[in-house]
Amino acid sequence: MPTIAPFQLERYFAKYEFKVKYLLSPSDCESLTLNELLQLADPDSLRLWHSLNLCYTESPGHPALREEIARMYEHAPPAQIVVAAPEELIFIAMHTLLRSGDHVVCISPAYQSLYEVARAIGCDVAVWPVEEVEGQWRLDLNRLESAITDRTRLLVVNFPHNPTGYLPTRRDIDSVIELARRRNLFLFCDEMYRLLEYDEAGRLPPMCDLYERGISLSGLSKTFALPGLRLGWLATQDSTLPEQWLTFKDYTTICNSAPSEILGLMALRAADSIIARNLQIIRSNIRIAEQFCGEHASLVRWFPPRAGSIAFPKWLGRAPIEQVCQSAVDEREVMVVPGSIFDFPGQHFRVGLGRKNFAEALEQFGAHVQLRG
Ligand SMILES: Cc1ncc(COP(=O)(O)O)c(C=O)c1O
Repeated sequence: MPTIAPFQLERYFAKYEFKVKYLLSPSDCESLTLNELLQLADPDSLRLWHSLNLCYTESPGHPALREEIARMYEHAPPAQIVVAAPEELIFIAMHTLLRSGDHVVCISPAYQSLYEVARAIGCDVAVWPVEEVEGQWRLDLNRLESAITDRTRLLVVNFPHNPTGYLPTRRDIDSVIELARRRNLFLFCDEMYRLLEYDEAGRLPPMCDLYERGISLSGLSKTFALPGLRLGWLATQDSTLPEQWLTFKDYTTICNSAPSEILGLMALRAADSIIARNLQIIRSNIRIAEQFCGEHASLVRWFPPRAGSIAFPKWLGRAPIEQVCQSAVDEREVMVVPGSIFDFPGQHFRVGLGRKNFAEALEQFGAHVQLRG
């Protein structure tokens, strides 16, 4: 048996993602094709693409790629950025920041590796719960304060949040940082869905710019619609951390895929048009979801997300949501992720708002629940 608990969400996807007709709960945006990305490429990255040698690459990431990433941050220069697969970076960050016996506070519900890796290391993990209050998502700072102990070393958050689409205000985030600063905590912020805020005014600055012990995780899988490149990065102001991450990375992938790095460079340079395309898909799908929830008000309650490509509505029907999801996948080939996969009570389920066939998947689900509700 592995020394880490199964990743419930990933096991669920592994079972159905490539077998069923419809996915109602994917977290990524409609992926770009290679041709679409090449069409967006600037002359310099096209030149790098056509002369690409499929050799080993520089362990921290291609210098031009890190330079492009560093433009997104005020206080994280290229030397303080390490590129790898996003999930790998969570593994690396936790293994370098934590030791057995450390105490960690993690937002909940959460993408499982954000707390499970810490548990596998032997840490005690306390949760800071996202709560539902009158059809909205909320985080209570008092609950965070009471979760922190003298042994707490790390606070893990994820904004914009998977699975709720929740985004705190700048004031809230400043209070979180103040708390972390008083206790000298590291603050790991998973920002995989950043730049997909529906109202740009609500966008939070990256954690690595706001806090001297802040670490930002970002990547190309969600906001940039390129999960198949397997590229993300960690950024920090702390000049001692990147060396530790690289020491650990020698035991995971050593370095990144050479083609992915150049394609990633193209994507970052074309960020504005890729993000605008994705937000257009998401906005249109939100309207469809709202209409669906209006038409099925006795069965589903919409919880409006503020950012990202996912939402977490609530099932109001009589049957347990797990049962509804199971019969939907068995009978209609529609995969829907129930909230229990995130160990979250309250009959929620995740919907993915980034795919072009969202309306079709939702229609199939609607036809199913009308019979089953
Ligand atoms: C919040 C969050 N962090 C990290 C990841 C990992 O990204 P990747 O699958 O590209 O490694 C995901 C993927 O779903 C995610 O939702």
